[in-house]
This record gives sequence, C-alpha cells and structure tokens, in this order.
Amino acid sequence: MAPTPLLLRSAAATSTPLRLTTSTARRLLSTTPQPAASTGTSTNETKPKLKPLTPSQKAFLSSALRVNQAGELAATLIYTSQTPPLLRREPHLRPLMSHMYEQEAAHLLTFNTLLAKHRVRPTALYPLWSVLATGLGWGTAMMGKEAAMACTEAVETEIGGHYNGQIRTLLEMVGQWEAEGYDVGEEFRELISTLRRIRDEELEHLDHAVEHDAQKAQPHWLLTGVIRAGCKGAIWVSERV
Ligand SMILES: [Fe+2]
Ligand SMILES: [Fe+2]
Repeated sequence: MAPTPLLLRSAAATSTPLRLTTSTARRLLSTTPQPAASTGTSTNETKPKLKPLTPSQKAFLSSALRVNQAGELAATLIYTSQTPPLLRREPHLRPLMSHMYEQEAAHLLTFNTLLAKHRVRPTALYPLWSVLATGLGWGTAMMGKEAAMACTEAVETEIGGHYNGQIRTLLEMVGQWEAEGYDVGEEFRELISTLRRIRDEELEHLDHAVEHDAQKAQPHWLLTGVIRAGCKGAIWVSERV
C-alpha cells in the first residue's frame, strides 16, 4: 500500500492549478481513497487549493510527530514508575498522579494515531527511552515527593518549550500559505489546535509540580538541570533517529 501523504497535501501536488469545489476539498481531507474528481464541473466555485508540502516541510512534520510520540511515551512511563513508590508515602497524591497519567496516556494515543495515519516511523531508540524514562520516574520517586515533582517540573518545562517551538513553526507555514492565497486545510488547523491543547496540559502539569513542592527538592538546581539536559538530548536525538 502506498504511504498516506503527510497531512494529505500531496493529493493536491500537481503542476496544474486546481479549482476545488467544496466536494473536492472534502475528498482531499478524507482518509478514505476517493475516485478522481470529474473535470466537467457545473460550478464556478474558486475555493483556494492546498499547497503541497515541500520536502523540508514533510521532514519537519515527520520528525515533529516522531519526537512527540517518543516524549509522550516517556511521560507515561515516568508517571507509571513514579506512582507506586510515591503513593506508598504520599497516598493523598493519588488523584493528581492519576489525572496527569491519564492526560499523558491520551497524548500518547493522539501521536500513535497520527504516526500510523501518516506512516511516520517511530524513533529507533524507543526501547532506550523506555528504560531511561522508567528509571527516571522510579529513581526520583524513591528520592521523595519533592524530587518526583522536580522531575515533572523539569520535564514539562522542556516539553512546553518544545511544543511552543513546533507551534511557532506551523503558524509560520500557515502565514506563508495564507499570504500566497492557499487554503490551509482543516487537518492542518486541527493539528495546531491539538498541539496547543497538549502544550497547555503539559504546562498545567508543571504548575501542579511547583504547587506540590518541586522547588524544595535538594539540590533542586542540580536535579532539574540534569533532567532538563537529558530531555534536550532526547528530543534532539529523537528528531533525527
Ligand atoms: Fe504529554
Ligand atoms: Fe506532561
């Protein structure tokens, strides 16, 4: 089966300018293969067409989806491994830990679905990130509540910035398409709003961590510094491998 084009834009990749009817536009956004559009139109609609993605835009999107999935996998594993040792000493944190875990599991499901839909390969280092994330979660929880929360603070600081960077790049693409008179496409707009929602949820986790004494971890600067450097490295590698 041929790969599904990223964000289905290459369906419009033709050197012949298209005048899309509403139904044609719907077909471009559909995930179901559609018969070729009839050229004998009975309408004069002049809906703007989607601009095909450039190779570098495709590469950016593939790498963004891949690294996001790896990050969300790591997040679910951090919370999974933190929760048992943490709740043994701090059982009142159960609702908070469940809430954050459930949001991470939903983020992971979102990116699993997007990777499968667009035939993007996951990071080759999936097993390594799994081991490291599990170790990080368990290790910080064994150090105590403050260290566990400092871990969340550090991770979410990096991840929040990471999602913001992606959103900025996608908005630049949108601005450029709009300036050139192209349609942005519902699927692309939906991706941006998904990333914004996930970014906001990550920043909510960051707030929860600070409210639960993350900054009382000892030594806070060292713990968060090491974890943030690790996240930066993992992001850099997962974007490429
Ligand atoms: Fe997440
Ligand atoms: Fe998170």
